[in-house]
Amino acid sequence: MAVDPALVPRIPLNDGTSIPQIGFGTWQVAPEDAEPSVSEALRVGYRHIDTAAVYANEAEVGQALAKSDLARDDIYVTTKLWNPDHGYDEAMRAFDLSMGKLGLEQLDLYLIHWQCVQFDKYVDTWRALVDLRASGRVRSIGVSNFKEPALRAIIDATGVVPVLNQVELHPWSPQTALRELHAELGIATESWSPLASGQLLDDPTLAVIAEKHGKSTAQVMIRWHLQLGLIVLPKSITPVRIAQNIDVFDFVLDADDMATIATLESGRRTGPDPDEYLELGW
Ligand code: A2P
Repeated sequence: MAVDPALVPRIPLNDGTSIPQIGFGTWQVAPEDAEPSVSEALRVGYRHIDTAAVYANEAEVGQALAKSDLARDDIYVTTKLWNPDHGYDEAMRAFDLSMGKLGLEQLDLYLIHWQCVQFDKYVDTWRALVDLRASGRVRSIGVSNFKEPALRAIIDATGVVPVLNQVELHPWSPQTALRELHAELGIATESWSPLASGQLLDDPTLAVIAEKHGKSTAQVMIRWHLQLGLIVLPKSITPVRIAQNIDVFDFVLDADDMATIATLESGRRTGPDPDEYLELGW
């Protein structure tokens, strides 16, 4: 079963481009699973793939893109700069390496994966991304796991506002304050681990809402992201789930459902606090 890709809304970005609101997440997709999973995602209607240098699957994502019959312009591709590659020259080299692995001439979106405030290099890194965009090799540039001080610092230094900030976001951690800041600055919000890395799939509150709509808890959470205006990146390597996670356009959560899901907020994260995270390995 496939979903018509035209059903997936596009979110306008602050540089005049737009991005499909559902993307296929490839974090924790092992290299050997990446080509079949991405191929399956494209087959069932995804037109947006999210990878990163540190996922160690860019080459396999690139193989799936190369095998696809779809036109390059019909698929939105994001990758991310890994932590040791902070700095202007390092960022330029990292971008070239990622593009070589992906086998692409032009990237849709390049993100700084983590702010790494401890290095104090993120402004230089951002300057490199600004120049990469000016060169035309990447259409849009943004960040991931950035908090307010680092966001303001890169904007103040360059005058260039990231198109989006990709952050951990799910019903436990809806990132309300950060979303308000993004709205003020014209930055779209993109959700990683939108299903709380699978930890909310058995939640009894979500199960009641899922049963009411004849949908799964995963589909309820994905609708919640969509209805909040977020760009959402569910990950699965299981074909039936890959298809299920984009089959979310035949029901709508009502105001009561949205209010009930809001009660799940606990501040709990499944990943690290960006102010503390400084992983350098692969
Ligand atoms: P798998 O990849 O084995 O299919 P998140 O997107 O928040 O990181 O969550 C990913 C986790 O949720 C993975 O363990 C994935 O399992 C699981 N998952 C993704 N979609 C579904 C679904 N529709 N039903 C059940 N589990 C799912």
